[in-house]
Amino acid sequence: MAGKILAANWKMNTIPADGVALVSEILNQWPDNHRAHTIICPPFTHLAFIAELLKNKPSFSLGAQNCHHEKKGAFTGGISVDMLKDLGVEYVIIGHSERRHIFHESEKDITSKVQRVIQAGMHVIFCCGELLKYRKQGLETSIVESQLKSSLGALSDTEMKQVTIAYEPVWAIGTGETASPQQAQNMHKTIRHWISKQWNNDIADKCSILYGGSVKPGNAKALFMQTDVNGGLIGGASLNAQDFKAIYHAMI
Ligand code: PGA
Repeated sequence: MAGKILAANWKMNTIPADGVALVSEILNQWPDNHRAHTIICPPFTHLAFIAELLKNKPSFSLGAQNCHHEKKGAFTGGISVDMLKDLGVEYVIIGHSERRHIFHESEKDITSKVQRVIQAGMHVIFCCGELLKYRKQGLETSIVESQLKSSLGALSDTEMKQVTIAYEPVWAIGTGETASPQQAQNMHKTIRHWISKQWNNDIADKCSILYGGSVKPGNAKALFMQTDVNGGLIGGASLNAQDFKAIYHAMI
């Protein structure tokens, strides 16, 4: 059985002091029942502060939104996986559509980052998803499968166990438009089937596949009820502690 995961992707929002206040509010009366894992992915500047708050909270992990694909060196502005690991980061989001489309990260960049994170012994939250124009042409499955194949295809069984997948249809991110529960389930099932073909049934069954794209308290339950939806990657709604808690309750 795949573990339930709720991940917060704050993107480029909040200053560190606001981030600390937000996590404190999330932790206050959080139903710490170990039935699901929660990952907070704040901006880099917040990581050290938030690591302190999440210490001794086994059902929480710290995540980063990006990393550099090289180990170290003359890459001004770059953040290495070793830097992140040293701060207590366990998960790194790779392949987010904003990185693909706004920062023009190529499949090659994304694949190198995946490998770097895996080699460091950390977990990847691998994002995939199609643009609206491809869904309109009925090409969503082939787009998502090609993203998976190109960045994850070469991983060994053991390495694949360090991967969580987030299906995020690009047309649903930050738009208020969500995939219907059926659309989400269909794609998640396709992804799980692809994993079982590429590796095996056990790895496929245990891989958490999250849905992301305008998840809100009002639509979370219907999405999370789907058999192959194991949780969510939440953007906008994770910036509000009450909404984030309500989404968590809808999941467990
Ligand atoms: P959203 O973002 O929930 O604001 O749509 C999700 C994401 O980009 O991870």
